[in-house]
Amino acid sequence: MKTTRSVVLGCGSYLPAKILTNYDLAKMVDTSDDWIVERTGIKVRHLAREDETTSDLALEAATQAIRNAGIGVNDIDMIVVATTTPDETFPSTATRVQAGLNMLGGAAFDIQAVCSGFIFAVSVADAMIRSGQAKTVLVIGAETMSRLLDWNDRGTCVLFGDGAGAIVLQAHEGDGSNHDRGVLMTKIFSDGRLHDLLYVDGGVSTTGTAGHLRMQGREVFKHAVTNIAAAIEAAAGAAGVALSEIDWFVPHQANQRILAGTARKLGINPERVISTVAEHGNTSAASVPLALSTAVEDGRIKRGHLILMEAMGGGFTWGASLLRW
Ligand code: ACO
Repeated sequence: MKTTRSVVLGCGSYLPAKILTNYDLAKMVDTSDDWIVERTGIKVRHLAREDETTSDLALEAATQAIRNAGIGVNDIDMIVVATTTPDETFPSTATRVQAGLNMLGGAAFDIQAVCSGFIFAVSVADAMIRSGQAKTVLVIGAETMSRLLDWNDRGTCVLFGDGAGAIVLQAHEGDGSNHDRGVLMTKIFSDGRLHDLLYVDGGVSTTGTAGHLRMQGREVFKHAVTNIAAAIEAAAGAAGVALSEIDWFVPHQANQRILAGTARKLGINPERVISTVAEHGNTSAASVPLALSTAVEDGRIKRGHLILMEAMGGGFTWGASLLRW
């Protein structure tokens, strides 16, 4: 049966120039390169300049994705930005990007699902495309997580980085089978009872400040492997795809041990898992499209490949999206 599919036309990414190494961090808090690498796999992360905002990062990634897609800005009729670090409380970061692109018309809005944001944004964009409300959607994950960190808390400040990634999705007709290009299935979940394990201790209607990220790392870790594995099985299962058929797993890049633990739990070949955590750290909603762009640029991901993107983050939120490149 003919079906509308959201096909990826192109992708792009952007990392701020400034790099913070584990050795730099060891001068700031009581930590070491050995500890960070052993517990997380992270070696370096990128940090936005003081005058560089989330929308600046998003705009760079978006411009590259549009160029890579081979379309014009005004072919886009919707922008969805996943971010937990917006430029301002309002308006949305997406409207800043819209203005930056000189995009006339269409709609632009943000969604908030912390580290799962990109998966949630793909889910929303795909639903918009399949329901006929949009034809060409720019989906961006962009973060300046460095602005939310308590730089005295060694348990969190070593984990995160800044960056942005973007894809362009466009409506194309498929035959309704798993051989179609485009998004085949997305599953998203949340459980608000787990708020206290990972949150920011500030906000507009509480403290009136942006606040700092707080986390019970060990507890988050346990939930991460369980939830991510369940989301992968839910998305692949609903699409009728065996995990062995998937060419590349593109996970949220939180911690190399979470990537390895999930692969082990599901019997996934670790060589099929794209990892950029060593170079990017955890860039929250930006991490999946950043990893995706990396693997497209270096030639690992090719047209026709089956890709499984997944993430988990504060809320808790988690999800997975299966697509054919
Ligand atoms: N350097 C040195 N020592 C540290 C550091 C640090 N940067 N941070 C914590 N420690 C110490 C702790 O104080 C503790 O010391 P103690 O034994 O004297 O009390 C010891 O190291 C062990 O601490 P744990 O928190 O138990 O260490 P763990 O092995 O769990 O690793 C980590 C911590 C890396 C945070 C891990 O729990 C983790 O990655 N959790 C997942 C969190 C995550 O990825 N969150 C991102 C958002 S959610 C998501 O994206 C999935």
